[in-house]
Amino acid sequence: MAFYDERESSQLVKILFFDILGINATDLISKAEHRLSESEILKLHFATKRLLKGEPVQYVTGKSFFAGLELIVGPDVLIPRPETEELVGKICSDIESNECSVLDIGTGSGCIALGIKSLRPNWKVSACDVSEMALNIAKRNVERTKLHINLFKLDALNSSVLPEKYDVIVSNPPYIPWREKGSLSSRVIDFEPHLALFVEDQHPLIFFERILHLAQKYLHDDGVVFFEIHESFAAELTALKDKYPIATLEVYKDMQGKDRMVKIKLSK
Ligand SMILES: C[S@@+](CC[C@H](N)C(=O)[O-])C[C@H]1O[C@@H](n2cnc3c(N)ncnc32)[C@H](O)[C@@H]1O
Repeated sequence: MAFYDERESSQLVKILFFDILGINATDLISKAEHRLSESEILKLHFATKRLLKGEPVQYVTGKSFFAGLELIVGPDVLIPRPETEELVGKICSDIESNECSVLDIGTGSGCIALGIKSLRPNWKVSACDVSEMALNIAKRNVERTKLHINLFKLDALNSSVLPEKYDVIVSNPPYIPWREKGSLSSRVIDFEPHLALFVEDQHPLIFFERILHLAQKYLHDDGVVFFEIHESFAAELTALKDKYPIATLEVYKDMQGKDRMVKIKLSK
């Protein structure tokens, strides 16, 4: 496959065989004599065609695995990333209390909110997005996982009102300046929703600022904000201390060693 090296291609074949035929890697050897039906061959054919055009396998199968959950994904939502899983793990290990209310802003597939709810079933978790289509997918993921989270529509750039106060506000907002479009793979640019990815070059921190603005009013005392960030914007975010009443700002690296997560406490 032109888009993939040999190792990736073999991995993709395993994913498709499992998704379409229910045959895992072991069965591939032990059931080598298995005859495919016409409809199975057609499904494999069309799925392979989509992969050959560069479409991410998660959109082809309609599924993505995140924090132990199998989530529905489609072109209206970002494919959840491993670094975002790390953010979920960080929040759940950082906050010890058994009672906690969380709001995930820009939830997409619902991965952060659902990941948190699955690790911390006692917490009260809400999630919002500006995109109705994303909210529909998130709703299907709520039904599929049977994890109860409260979903609502919110335009974080143009709203200064939230339904209630929270102990944690978390967001993995759009944070890639349009000028960096050329450095992204065509698998991202051509298939993932631009609404989820890009921000204006002049205001790369706009979502972080808007969310900090909301957090000033809608965090309980001792509440915290967690962000996933662009690896090169840790310094700019830290500079927001001059503009917002930030008491502490901690930056954490992801497993790739990149500055990727930020925890902010606001002073009252
Ligand atoms: C980087 S994606 C993150 C999706 C998901 N939380 C994840 O981590 O995979 C950003 C999300 O923000 C949403 N979004 C974009 N503009 C928004 C806005 N003005 N208000 C609220 N959400 C917005 C997009 O629809 C998208 O789902």
